[in-house]
Amino acid sequence: MAETGKKDVAATPNVSEVHVSDASTTQEVEAVLDAPVERGEPILQVRNLVKHFPLTQGILFKKQVGAVKAVDGVSFDLYQGETLGIVGESGCGKSTVAKLLMTLETATSGEVFYKGQDITKLSGRALKAVRRNIQMVFQDPYTSLNPRMTVGDIIGEPFEIHPEVAPKGDRRKRVQELLDVVGLNPEYINRYPHQFSGGQRQRIGIARGLALNPEIIICDEPVSALDVSVQAQVINLMEKLQDEFNLSYVFIAHDLSIVRHISDRVGVMYLGKMAEIGTDAEIYDHPTHPYTQALLSAVPVPDPDARERRERIILTGDVPSPANPPSGCRFRTRCWKAQDKCAEEVPLLAVPQVFVGKSTPAAHESACHFAEEKDVVGAA
Ligand SMILES: Nc1ncnc2c1ncn2[C@@H]1O[C@H](COP(=O)(O)OP(=O)(O)OP(=O)(O)O)[C@@H](O)[C@H]1O
Ligand code: SF4
Ligand SMILES: [Mg+2]
Repeated sequence: MAETGKKDVAATPNVSEVHVSDASTTQEVEAVLDAPVERGEPILQVRNLVKHFPLTQGILFKKQVGAVKAVDGVSFDLYQGETLGIVGESGCGKSTVAKLLMTLETATSGEVFYKGQDITKLSGRALKAVRRNIQMVFQDPYTSLNPRMTVGDIIGEPFEIHPEVAPKGDRRKRVQELLDVVGLNPEYINRYPHQFSGGQRQRIGIARGLALNPEIIICDEPVSALDVSVQAQVINLMEKLQDEFNLSYVFIAHDLSIVRHISDRVGVMYLGKMAEIGTDAEIYDHPTHPYTQALLSAVPVPDPDARERRERIILTGDVPSPANPPSGCRFRTRCWKAQDKCAEEVPLLAVPQVFVGKSTPAAHESACHFAEEKDVVGAA
């Protein structure tokens, strides 16, 4: 992996080890919150977050007949200045988590603490104040920018809602500064989105995300719609801005290589739940959850010897419907290690018993009853 500007987690003061848990009862959540914090205070604490979209039937009298369990009890922490990557197959609930963190969707249950304050319970001015500090960069720079607005109006739009950040007379100057910060010519302020390339448009989206000086940016597939060469430029820009403004990122993507490159820690989601979470080295070099192992076994390996050695794990079967997920472990219908216990008991996201107290990178949180290491990248 190229090491361009990526932070060294171990070298960062107040950032050492992570303890995130998918505890499902209040007592378990309390235990997590009471656990010694080794990374300093998290800026965001997500606890048992749930989003069920109701499934209804009937035209005049709508009756709820079920629910799409898009996010079903997800917990994690985000620390100041770090990047938490979130990966997982299409439909596993990544964008729904992003929208819940942004309060663009209302949580069915669970909490999102921003500096200790549960933002899912806020409204009015208190919510507006928090929203200023949590911004989003969207996937598709072609559709997320209004084609009829100039770049100046797009980037300056957040100032209409938060005029205290840039009074009217200062806005043009502020927008030009933002254009400069993201590597665009400040003279482009009166241009329209169609006059820019895809990479430049994503820079505009990033400038808009930065306008209110946020502390957290939720990035939902920010480079997935871009060419590979442009992806690298945008990622490098995001890393530079993170260092400059001490930003914390939640970085959602399909591409495991990009996520590894930019992330300090990585969470792997499957069907509305977090399957495994740890530092990038723990997840990529020492995965213990069969789903993570299968995902990683499909990542292209440049070294031909490693390619020879590694075992490709082909998952069979489709991802089950989130409206009717399997009992116990949600991955069991596709897992080659599934046993009776997997259908009966939901595995909690915790350091597996076999690794508790051991100083091995495998001792990170994994929601599997039979978690074990497997060399999926042919490193041996
Ligand atoms: N507004 C909605 N109403 C009903 N179901 C929804 C709604 N939004 C999302 N879903 C469902 O919730 C599940 C999770 O969707 P989500 O968009 O969070 O997945 P994702 O991981 O972001 O997928 P992708 O990688 O394709 O972007 C999917 O089954 C989706 O169909
Ligand atoms: S709990 Fe069982 S089904 Fe789930 S990942 Fe582990 S072994 Fe597979
Ligand atoms: Mg999505």
